[in-house]
Amino acid sequence: MSTFSSLAQTIQPLDAAERFATLPPEYTPTKRLFIKTYGCQMNVYDSERMEEALVPLGFQATDMVDTADLIIVNTCHIRAKAEDKLFSELGRFRIVKNKRKDAGQSTIIIVAGCVGQALGADILKRAPYVDVVVGPQTYHTLPETVMRILWAQPNQPKISLGFPKMEKFDELPQERGLKGPQAFLSIQEGCNKFCKYCVVPYTRGPEYSRPLSDVLQEAKHLVDLGAKEITLLGQNVNAYHGLDAGGKETSLGRLIMALAECPGLTRLRYTTSHPRDVDDDLLCAHRDIKILMPFLHLPVQSGSNRVLARMNRQYTREFYLNIIEKFLQYNPKMAFSSDFIVGYPGESDDDFQDTCRLIDQVHFAQAFSFMYSPRPGTPAAMVKQLDEQIKSQRLQHLNGVLDGHRLAFNQTFQDQVIPVLVERADEDHGCMGRSEYMHSVHFTHPFCAVGDILNIQIQSSSHNSLKGVVV
Ligand code: 5AD
Ligand code: SF4
Repeated sequence: MSTFSSLAQTIQPLDAAERFATLPPEYTPTKRLFIKTYGCQMNVYDSERMEEALVPLGFQATDMVDTADLIIVNTCHIRAKAEDKLFSELGRFRIVKNKRKDAGQSTIIIVAGCVGQALGADILKRAPYVDVVVGPQTYHTLPETVMRILWAQPNQPKISLGFPKMEKFDELPQERGLKGPQAFLSIQEGCNKFCKYCVVPYTRGPEYSRPLSDVLQEAKHLVDLGAKEITLLGQNVNAYHGLDAGGKETSLGRLIMALAECPGLTRLRYTTSHPRDVDDDLLCAHRDIKILMPFLHLPVQSGSNRVLARMNRQYTREFYLNIIEKFLQYNPKMAFSSDFIVGYPGESDDDFQDTCRLIDQVHFAQAFSFMYSPRPGTPAAMVKQLDEQIKSQRLQHLNGVLDGHRLAFNQTFQDQVIPVLVERADEDHGCMGRSEYMHSVHFTHPFCAVGDILNIQIQSSSHNSLKGVVV
């Protein structure tokens, strides 16, 4: 993994005035930008920020790749599947680029995100039609990179990696766009936990928390733009320890308390948390802050102490269950979601049964389950692996157990009246909103507006959604 840093080259960012001053004279201000995003909400946030950073260069987002002057693939490296998808997608974009070239149009292809960080120059070797590779911590240099290509400077660096995080958030434009009542806000990046299966500490780098004032300012800006709900993002979000104006560290719980003062903000969420970083401030926030949603994504990964130790998760199942218990004591309305890895190297049948037992104890409202995927360079990839068939049988079984709990959770809402934040208000095709627990809730209403919070009485439920009427 040390090769990442030796690949690192940093392109110096310019300010907005310099950008315009140096654009080529024949430059047409409206160019089309197509972004394909893989992976987590962090990547969705990053894609939004990349788009915003390119607006001053005259780029406008499009859904039609054939019309795009610039294609960005924002990649995820967490499991092998995500990486494979990149290369098949790039093959598709190569065809687009060639077709456009035949029609006299040029297309820039940029690979961004964690696969860019991890594979760097290998991407350019395997897909030489890619123009540039940028890592997740250097995408603030995108405007300069794109501008240099528009200026046809062939000798510019083709790779921009490294971890200059402080610089990234300072250099990105302050202005944010907003596509609905829900907004993401990145408050923390990177991870120092080094779970033995995970690439994040290598691709996203060491943990970094944004200063409190920056987060509060961005939140206020998002609310001014019309955001009703903000999800705070971080790879290890509850390790947040951003500095306040006096240079003192602020916990996530304290940050939430500060954000609750923001007029107009009606819902707050955060993801993804690590069980070891749950503290009293966070528990108190769930007890005292009404706008903090009673729904927590707290990945456990496994219910077996032996596997948890081998993963270097730094807690036991008893520790995890105790945290769940505490959250429920502080706020009995809490429900939980989790991530599970099955088929981790050395996982026995008994270990797997421990995971199923833990699920039956917690009654997770929602969960994401994955077959263990060996990631090059991580310690767990270097030991003996389980048989693929065992892994897939266990995944299937686990999904059955998780589905049962999800359906049971959804059925508890039958006939209840619940608050729903409207995301789509469409008289003809029906309205859709989110419950406090992230369910899609479908209903009809002749004149509600996106961003309203309505009381809906639930009439039916399925695995994925609820249906009801406005009361
Ligand atoms: N294989 C399978 N799943 C993984 N995750 C992270 N790394 C791997 C891997 N190598 C899962 C974990 C994590 C989620 C984001 O992805 O469950 O919480
Ligand atoms: Fe990866 Fe999460 Fe473990 Fe960090 S805490 S190494 S991001 S799984």
